[in-house]
Amino acid sequence: FIEAVIFDLDGVITDTAEYHYLAWKQLAEELGLPFDRQFNEKLKGVGRMDSLELILQQGNKSYTIEEKISLANRKNDHYKQLIQKITPNDLLPGILPLLKELKTNGVKIALASASKNAFTVIDKLQVGEYFDTIVDAGKIVKGKPDPEIFMVAAEQLKVPVQNCVGIEDAEAGIRAIKEANMFAVGVGNEDSMHQADLIVKDTNELTLERLRENFK
Ligand code: BG6
Ligand code: MG
Repeated sequence: FIEAVIFDLDGVITDTAEYHYLAWKQLAEELGLPFDRQFNEKLKGVGRMDSLELILQQGNKSYTIEEKISLANRKNDHYKQLIQKITPNDLLPGILPLLKELKTNGVKIALASASKNAFTVIDKLQVGEYFDTIVDAGKIVKGKPDPEIFMVAAEQLKVPVQNCVGIEDAEAGIRAIKEANMFAVGVGNEDSMHQADLIVKDTNELTLERLRENFK
């Protein structure tokens, strides 16, 4: 039975996946590197420095560590600008009702986000009170698709992995959930979600009933 639900943040709880896209696109344009939505799919769920590496590989210039850090900071400045205007109205449809439903039914709730901005975004959305634990980029060594972040969340909740549901919008995230031996729910485009146990088109479809019907 479902004892815990572990949420990805960017693209699941709120549409910050779009802001990451815009911020990377701005940086890529400043560097004269190609960047489009299809390429961006590869970056979803992937940490800041690893994402930068993938973008820089699109060109043939080499950069020092210092230069890379400054480029990553530049992207993060663009991103921080974009998330400033987030309010509770930016919760994706169905997410607040789901958080409430999980709470009233005694299902534990965790956040597993690769983002160092996770706490800021959760604060702006004003949903911090719903989470029994938040595991962000600062608390793990290996990023998605490694299962570490989901395993740490389950450990902190004291729930066995087979009773956990993970919800993700990215291929790297779905792989991490499956590697952690959890039930994987994908939100969005089927193409990037091959390994998911359940795929919904829209966060609106995420209800405890729907999860329970499909959970195995
Ligand atoms: C993930 C996003 O949640 O966090 C990625 O899906 C992002 O797009 C990663 O690169 C790291 O985020 P941040 O805020 O630490 O740069
Ligand atoms: Mg995501």
